[in-house]
Amino acid sequence: MRLTKEEQAMLNGDFGEGAKLAMKILAAIGEACYADKMVPVSRTHVALSNQEADLWFAEKLVAGGAKCRISPTVNPGFDLEYFQGITTVDAGDEAVIKRTRAAYRELGATLTYNCTPYLEKNIPRFGEITAYSESSATPYINSVYGARTNREAAQSALCSAVTGVTPLYGYLLTENRRGQILVNVDAGELSDFDYQMLGYCTPKKTGFKIPVFRGITNPSPEALKDLGAELNTGGNVAMYHIIGVTPEAPTLEAAFQGETPREEVTVTRADLDRMQKELSTEGGKIDFALFGCPHLTIKQVGIIADRVKGKKLAVPLWIMASAFTKDLARKMGYLDILLAAGGDIAGDTCMDQPCWKFLYGKKGITDSPKCAYYTQRRNMAFVIRDIETCVDASLAGRV
Ligand code: F3S
Repeated sequence: MRLTKEEQAMLNGDFGEGAKLAMKILAAIGEACYADKMVPVSRTHVALSNQEADLWFAEKLVAGGAKCRISPTVNPGFDLEYFQGITTVDAGDEAVIKRTRAAYRELGATLTYNCTPYLEKNIPRFGEITAYSESSATPYINSVYGARTNREAAQSALCSAVTGVTPLYGYLLTENRRGQILVNVDAGELSDFDYQMLGYCTPKKTGFKIPVFRGITNPSPEALKDLGAELNTGGNVAMYHIIGVTPEAPTLEAAFQGETPREEVTVTRADLDRMQKELSTEGGKIDFALFGCPHLTIKQVGIIADRVKGKKLAVPLWIMASAFTKDLARKMGYLDILLAAGGDIAGDTCMDQPCWKFLYGKKGITDSPKCAYYTQRRNMAFVIRDIETCVDASLAGRV
């Protein structure tokens, strides 16, 4: 790779050991992916996991004196103080989360602890070059905003945050953003929940190609958030187009950059229904409800609050959302309604964290296939339904 004088100086260690390590990793990625130079990034997001390997790397950068040039927003862990009030948090887990917080603060990260940074606090404009990790973030950045990011790891995104650059390859190049397969969506009018299933089942038909959806009109931000999350749970898709909706696809021709689509598949209502059946555990008695994988928006919190208003839940119900959304919910009265019904909002929290140990071995209900998928290894089973049905089931204790 051709490096600028400053990049070479970083690689030589003139900016400290931390920046040297970050540049060394980015240069290696660039060489592996045939990039010939670095380009500046204007935004970054780090999907920190609060796991030991992640922490090891962040602390290594801290020990090397690294500071972020482009302060990244960061993924959720868990709200330690909140969970200490409702369960026993292992001393080891408490230590990891405290050290993680300290390391990222020291690096100069923007401590949003939220997995939907693209909806609040870290929103790019069309064409911006960025480095985002997190499954729902990369497709939203590339597809909905028309900004550019590769499907970064937490570590490579952090290296870009420290150095301010990323290797020029992959989705940063116009020719690699061309649609690769046409997906006709023939399923009638789609609800927000349908996009969860559409996201999960599309890669089963398309592989990891860039899908170009035809037949979708006016999807909500929530639908697109969940579509991206599921495209990266059912598969590995960092970019898609929707004809007439996303900015690089005003027409079919534009989405395929003038080429004729070589492949075409159709997703029907029967496909969506089959996917839901395959992913969901059998109905019956449930022990709890969990929403927010990815984090819920205030609109989604409002849907749940309206439905439980003045009622009592038969099972506990948690919503995961950013601290900003929780604060907004408090101001708007939603949090009081939820608390009165027996529900709550866990701010800054991810379902893939050790704070939920008290739910292991139990059966929950959720609207998120991603939530159900990741918790299998923790012996949690989920019935998957749309948000409204989930809430009704939580009021009844069964579905
Ligand atoms: Fe967010 Fe954790 Fe799910 S980061 S998308 S709640 S796995």
